[in-house]
Amino acid sequence: MTQQIYVLNGPNLNLLGTREPEIYGSETLDDIEQQMRTAAPGVEITFRQTNSEGQMVDWVQEASNSADFVILNAGAYTHTSVALHDALRACNAEIVEVHLSNPAAREPFRSTNYVAPCASASIAGFGASGYLMALTAILHKKKD
Ligand code: DQA
Repeated sequence: MTQQIYVLNGPNLNLLGTREPEIYGSETLDDIEQQMRTAAPGVEITFRQTNSEGQMVDWVQEASNSADFVILNAGAYTHTSVALHDALRACNAEIVEVHLSNPAAREPFRSTNYVAPCASASIAGFGASGYLMALTAILHKKKD
């Protein structure tokens, strides 16, 4: 069966490339999407970004019925959103958390994490490569 992978991106990630490049790098979200599609031809990737918490919750609910995996960079909602946490707990897809930076090594408020307890794996601090790492690991996992 064709694998369905959702890649969901939260607030301000549409600004990648110009947003604090010393922290988040110079690659844009479009660059990341293209790299993932190139790395996994034949895999159905649904790639989205939103600045809205409710929209993110709706997409996680959708993924529960439509996806095998969700690669999730929830941005700041990682640290604030109980609604997202509850949606992830109810999601049938496997969640892989990704962050460009390493939130645990930054401001103390970024150490609160409502996503990690719902994820089977977390990748942080490798910049845009983290998305490809998550994808590669998922594809290996499916072959096991
Ligand atoms: C981020 C880390 C979050 O703390 C921050 O709010 C973001 C981006 C990351 O990818 O490093 O928006 O998720």
